[in-house]
Amino acid sequence: MYKKLYIKILLTFLLVFFSGTSITHENISHNIDIASGDKCVEPTDIMRAQHHIFLNKQSHDTVVDGIRTKKYSLNNCINCHIQPSADGTYPSVKSEEHFCSGCHIKAAAQVECFDCHASKPFNNEKIEEEISKK
Ligand code: HEC
Ligand code: HEC
Ligand code: HEC
Repeated sequence: MYKKLYIKILLTFLLVFFSGTSITHENISHNIDIASGDKCVEPTDIMRAQHHIFLNKQSHDTVVDGIRTKKYSLNNCINCHIQPSADGTYPSVKSEEHFCSGCHIKAAAQVECFDCHASKPFNNEKIEEEISKK
């Protein structure tokens, strides 16, 4: 009786350990375009803690010193992080579905960059289509 139960528990463990994909991290959607290489511009823990510092520096370099680079540009972040949902629309910057806002809303961080900056990808066929219609 106990022996059978023991074997069942053991089998369950083995199944969980070796079933791979269904329980690993890779299965969790990052809302990231796979074509982009699937990597942030810095390691994730550094980005989590310092992204606003990179953005502020980038902003200063561009606006004050006229230096324009892609790596930390806000458009670069948005192009990679903001992907359309199944119906082809982009999440509003006011909703938690927006990668940046989801976190800012939870952390109660006031981020007003998107009053001026685009919160959705720009160089996107669909958006270009919409613009060309106007
Ligand atoms: C009042 C409007 C306004 C607001 C608000 C604003 N920006 Fe900007 N930002 C600009 C303008 C205008 C430029 C210069 C546009 C350009 O040359 O690309 C710029 C340029 C930048 C650049 C350099 C271009 C790039 O993307 O590499 C960064 C980075 C940037 N802003 C980040 C921010 C961040 C982060 C915030 C929020 C903390 C913010 N901005 C808020 C208007 C604004
Ligand atoms: C080429 C794609 C790409 C670009 C460009 C990019 N990121 Fe990322 N970013 C990622 C990936 C992939 C992760 C890891 C996602 C995860 O683990 O949830 C990540 C993680 C992050 C995180 C941490 C998320 C968390 O859950 O802790 C922040 C914050 C972040 N990125 C902000 C930015 C900002 C700001 C920019 C622009 C300066 C940017 N990213 C540019 C792909 C990108
Ligand atoms: C993992 C959570 C998380 C994600 C994802 C995230 N942020 Fe933040 N962000 C924060 C927190 C928390 C703060 C408050 C500053 C601090 O103490 O770190 C902040 C602050 C900022 C600031 C500084 C605001 C100011 O006015 O000084 C900017 C700019 C910013 N985030 C931009 C972005 C952009 C752009 C993205 C998406 C590409 C993004 N963040 C994604 C957590 C996040």
